[in-house]
Amino acid sequence: MADSKTQVLIVGATGYIGGSVLSEILRSPEASQLSISALIRRPEQAAKLEALGVKSLQFQGLDDLEGCRDAASKNDVVINAASASHDSSAKALIEGLALRQKATGRGSYLIHTSGTSILGDHPYTATAQEKIWSDEDNIYAMEKSYPERYGQRVADVAVVETGLSLGVKTYIVVPPTIYGKGSGPFATLSQQVPNLARLARRRGYAAVIESGKGIWNHVHMDDLSAFYLMLFRAVIQKQSWLPSGPEAIFFVESGEHTWLQVSQGIADAMHKRGLLATNEVKSISLKEAAAEITKGNESLVEITLASNARARADFARNRLGWSTARGLEDFLRHFDGEIEAMLGELQG
Ligand SMILES: NC(=O)c1ccc[n+]([C@@H]2O[C@H](COP(=O)([O-])OP(=O)(O)OC[C@H]3O[C@@H](n4cnc5c(N)ncnc54)[C@H](OP(=O)(O)O)[C@@H]3O)[C@@H](O)[C@H]2O)c1
Repeated sequence: MADSKTQVLIVGATGYIGGSVLSEILRSPEASQLSISALIRRPEQAAKLEALGVKSLQFQGLDDLEGCRDAASKNDVVINAASASHDSSAKALIEGLALRQKATGRGSYLIHTSGTSILGDHPYTATAQEKIWSDEDNIYAMEKSYPERYGQRVADVAVVETGLSLGVKTYIVVPPTIYGKGSGPFATLSQQVPNLARLARRRGYAAVIESGKGIWNHVHMDDLSAFYLMLFRAVIQKQSWLPSGPEAIFFVESGEHTWLQVSQGIADAMHKRGLLATNEVKSISLKEAAAEITKGNESLVEITLASNARARADFARNRLGWSTARGLEDFLRHFDGEIEAMLGELQG
């Protein structure tokens, strides 16, 4: 007898976002109606997933397009949180979902993960763009017509266009700086703040790139997981109000901060624990930052760690019913916990 449960595949389930989303779904009332699989590249991770009731499917990695296609073709919903800029694997997942749709006669769906660096400007090498984008703006048109090629925008456009051409509904979640401990079975640390803390440890002081006046949004991992679950629920319930494709590129945020606030938060938390001799933040140039963080790619370091990327989560708040009590104060308080979670690594 065919499995009556909704088949769900998570790509990136061993990561910070994917693992936290997996845990959130496993805790949800829907969990008993789902059969959840994770597509993994390291066989040693299978046992821990199996213990959670998650089947593991193995592939060679995101370049294994046949592996991606084949795994997706056995599932009704794919949540992709592996790489925001790997467009060919995202396309292969949609191709697999299209095969599933043909075989079952039912809808199949992709929830893809992007990031607000798609909005990132070049405040130090071009004119600063301080526009606050709403997800009710035409983000797809902006991404498609953007003059500069950038991996995450290329992937988003590929997701929307492949979905439209194969009749698979797609939804793109665009998180900003994510903070807080992840709840997944493997990686539980985020990226930007930990990377800047590692940089501070290497340099002996917390650095800010150029003036640090660029503005980004933040969201706590628990609030982001809650958003994914609400979106996932609306998808499997086939809610008629839920847009898809070019109208379904969603922001999730709980406020704004500057890069200087991030560096100061890291400086204070690390100094307090004796990891830095000073809590003074020193400015470094784009060139210096690129040499240490992005293999010399100044454009990339400017976009990901120095830009303005300002978004407003209007869909989440006004249509999905998502909300959070957390704001800037919570973000500014979190550095202590983040540094505490990295203590072993930073002391090593
Ligand atoms: N963290 C943030 O603040 C943030 C914000 C916005 C957007 N994003 C984007 O969201 C994506 C996920 O972020 P994250 O913080 O969850 O990253 P992460 O903790 O490094 O997790 C990445 C996940 O994807 C898998 N993966 C990565 N590359 C792969 C490859 N080539 N083949 C197979 N599996 C691969 C990893 O598997 P393994 O366990 O095998 O390594 C892991 O499960 C990234 O593209 C990131 O840029 C992150």
